[in-house]
Amino acid sequence: MASPRATGPEQPPPLSDADAIARHKRAAARAAAEEVHDGMRVGLGTGTTVAYLLEALGERRAIGELVDVRCAATSPATERSARALGLTVVGLDELGELDLAIDGADQVDPDGWLVKGGGGAHTREKIVATAARRFVVIVSDDKLFQRLHPPIPLELVPFAVQTTLARLGPAGLRDVPRSPDGGVIADYVGPVADPRELADWLGTTPGVVEHGLFEPELVSSIVIAGEGGIEHRAGAKR
Ligand code: 5RP
Repeated sequence: MASPRATGPEQPPPLSDADAIARHKRAAARAAAEEVHDGMRVGLGTGTTVAYLLEALGERRAIGELVDVRCAATSPATERSARALGLTVVGLDELGELDLAIDGADQVDPDGWLVKGGGGAHTREKIVATAARRFVVIVSDDKLFQRLHPPIPLELVPFAVQTTLARLGPAGLRDVPRSPDGGVIADYVGPVADPRELADWLGTTPGVVEHGLFEPELVSSIVIAGEGGIEHRAGAKR
């Protein structure tokens, strides 16, 4: 299994690397899909790794497995894809507690901290992860870092967004549509010296709906795929 890289914003990978990363994402997703059993209430994350998860769950549904699985989706894109693959998607409020939620991540550090929200879905993703008894993270091993680094995704209240940005200091709006809940997507680009301290500060800054730092205590396990195979790393959530 590859060791974590030094911190730093990444360049887009060369094409052959991109192929390998896609294979690894698929392998991690398919391994985690094995944790889904009939009768479960399952939270579905957002992103390209989760697309492979949906594919695996859809295949099992098509052969008559997982007929009683009910899912809560973290984005309209995931909801559409899941339904198109024959999965049952209902509102999280209807399900209440989830047995399992599975989602990707942008960064994972050695302590189990995550950065999420590359797709701007981190607010719903955190709600769904928190509602799950088990939260399983699926990543290719290029997501492993010795230290977390910016950008840290943010969702902001639209009211007085420039005032909120000014209070945040090094932060900027992302050029993407608003979230499905009307929030403005932005990124904090200052240093990440202590993830917990930064998470506390971002979480208590007025105007910040949610940030993309996910604490280790939210995570039950991390499925990491690379050239060396698949590693199941225990998280801090028991
Ligand atoms: C979306 C997320 C994704 O899980 C994260 O960006 C990873 O995406 P991908 O699986 O496409 O690499 O947090 O808000």
